Amino acid sequence: WSAFSDDIDAILALKRERNAVILAHNYQTPEIFHCVADIVGDSLALAREAMTVDADVIVLAGVHFMAETTKLLNPAKTVLLPDVSAGCSLADSITPADVRLLRERYPGVPVVTYVNTCASVKAEADICCTSGNARAVVESLGVPCVIMIPDEYLAKNVAAQTDVEIIAWKGHCEVHERFTPADIRELREAHPGITVLAHPECPPNVVAEADFAGSTAAMSDYVGRNKPSRVVLMTECSMSDNVAVEHPEVEFIRPCNLCPHMKRITLANIRTALEQNRHVVTIDPQIADRARQSVERMLAI
Ligand code: 13P
Ligand code: SF4
Repeated sequence: WSAFSDDIDAILALKRERNAVILAHNYQTPEIFHCVADIVGDSLALAREAMTVDADVIVLAGVHFMAETTKLLNPAKTVLLPDVSAGCSLADSITPADVRLLRERYPGVPVVTYVNTCASVKAEADICCTSGNARAVVESLGVPCVIMIPDEYLAKNVAAQTDVEIIAWKGHCEVHERFTPADIRELREAHPGITVLAHPECPPNVVAEADFAGSTAAMSDYVGRNKPSRVVLMTECSMSDNVAVEHPEVEFIRPCNLCPHMKRITLANIRTALEQNRHVVTIDPQIADRARQSVERMLAI
C-alpha cells in the first residue's frame, strides 16, 4: 500500500477541497475500491446512488457509459471521467441508427436497452435495464415480445427465465464471452466442492453450468449470505480481489478475465482528474432529455 499512499493522501485532500465524491464500479482495483471510493457497487447501485449524491463534483471510476448515466441523473453537477477512452465492447456494438432499423423491422415492439450503451442509444430506447433488474424490467412492460439490446447473452439468459419473447442484438462483453463450460468443468475437477458464480453477460451454456448467476452486486451478496468454503467468480478479475477482502474465511479460486477499459482508471488519473478538472462529461441536451427518460423509467420500477 505504501506505493499508493502519496496518491491516496492527495485524492482524499482533493475530495475535501473540491467537495467531490468518487463512485467506483465493482471492477475497480482494490486501492481505488477500498481506499478512495465513497460509493461502490454494480451498475444499478451506481445509477441509483448517483441521484442521492450531495457534492459539487462526481468522479466516476468506471467506464464511459457509467459516467454518462451519472451525468444524465445529475445534470447540474460536474461529472469527471479520469480516462475518456475507458469504453466498453457492448456499448461499441450498437448505434442509434441500428436501433431505428430494429424499430422499422419490428414495429410496435418496445426496446429495452442494457445500461451498457451510450446516451444516444439510450435516447432511442423505451427503457433501460441492468444485469440486476433485466428480467423485472422486461416483465414490467406487460407485452409478449421485447427487443433487448445490445448484449445477446444477457438477452438469452433473461429469455430462459421469462415467458416474454426476446429479440436479441449481437453485442458481447469481451471479458465475459471468453468463459466456457469447459472452464467450469475443469474447475470442478481441480477444486472439488467449489461454488461457481457467473455474471449474466457470460454465454448461456456457461450460466447453465454455474451454481448461481447474477450482477456483480448479486455475486458479492451471494458470497456474504452463503459463505461457500471455495468459490470462483466467472467475471472481471478485480471482483474477487474486492470481495475477498471482506471474506477472509472464503477461498477464492481466481481464473478471471481483465477488462482493459476498467483498468484504464488508476489512482494517478483520478488524482489528475480532480487536480485539473478533467475529463468533464457532457451530453447533447436533446439526446440527454430522451436518454434520461429511459434511465428514469427503469429506476421507477
Ligand atoms: P454489473 O456491475 O451491473 O453487474 O455490470 C457488469 C459490467 O460488466 C459493467 O460493465
Ligand atoms: Fe464492458 Fe465487459 Fe468491460 Fe463491463 S466488463 S465494461 S461489459 S467490456
